Amino acid sequence: MPKLSVIGAGTMGTGIAQVAATAGWDVVINDTNNDILEKSSASLVKVMNRLVEKEKIDQATADKILGRIDFTEDQQYFENSDLVIEAIVENLEIKQKVFKAVEEIVREDTIIASNTSSLSLASIGASLKDPSRFVGIHFFNPAPLMPLVEIIPAVQTAEETTQQAKDWVDSWKKLTVLAKDTPGFIVNRVARPFYGESLRMYEEGIADFATIDWAMKELGGFRMGPFELMDFIGNDINYTVTETVFASFFYDPRYKPSFTQKRMSEAGFLGRKSGRGYYDYAEGAVKPEP
Ligand code: NAI
Repeated sequence: MPKLSVIGAGTMGTGIAQVAATAGWDVVINDTNNDILEKSSASLVKVMNRLVEKEKIDQATADKILGRIDFTEDQQYFENSDLVIEAIVENLEIKQKVFKAVEEIVREDTIIASNTSSLSLASIGASLKDPSRFVGIHFFNPAPLMPLVEIIPAVQTAEETTQQAKDWVDSWKKLTVLAKDTPGFIVNRVARPFYGESLRMYEEGIADFATIDWAMKELGGFRMGPFELMDFIGNDINYTVTETVFASFFYDPRYKPSFTQKRMSEAGFLGRKSGRGYYDYAEGAVKPEP
């Protein structure tokens, strides 16, 4: 089995490690913060225990999956990897610095990938001596549960790199889709007007949150309404993605961010994770009727 190294043991890195280890790959997760490595390890144990309790897997399988994942602060452990996936903070300069260092450690045929949601792959790849082995592999949160993964070649990416990345991710039982290196790729771009137009309708007084959510679920067949979904993702993250997509499209008004969401984010009304967003998640709070 090939070997995977994951840089960043946060939400996405931990989820990606779980996906690959479940498919039988040996995985090394790296982070600069040892507390986060410990948290990542503890959360994987918790997830495996839950899967055993629910009888989705047996204890022996859970132990095998956990046994395939190593946690380290030392990137030297990357030297035997076939694939490296970076899932660190969404900052171009930091990512470029990390990729430069990683390229010095890994083999010449190691494929190097980024899980970025909003930066251009061409700009990240430009930090590598050999950007032909670099590609975007974009998972959705939570990675173990969301079936779709976008594979995004940069202009510098070799065709074999894209194909190999796609084959590997397919072998992890994910559904892959090829996307061009443009802001938001496919899913996050289609989603912008979904949120943006809902916020504009609310601001124009056309309908309240609960009514818009109700209509999209009951009549539109969506599993969550746009406001419920923004509260689920986090208004801070959702707002930042909109701001980035807006700027990356040369300020095309189709992607204009909303002051309503900006203020929610500034106030700390981030959604479920902070206990309050468009809805109140405090115990006993009553959800407004549409
Ligand atoms: P996170 O904040 O949960 O985790 C990032 C981790 O990277 C932290 O643990 C941090 O200590 C570590 N880190 C920072 N600099 C590092 C370095 N130089 N070397 C090693 N580790 C380092 O972030 P999250 O949410 O997991 O996002 C990671 C990436 O995935 C970002 O590029 C984000 O845009 C992308 N992404 C996020 C999604 C989400 O819904 N959270 C969905 C899809 C992609």
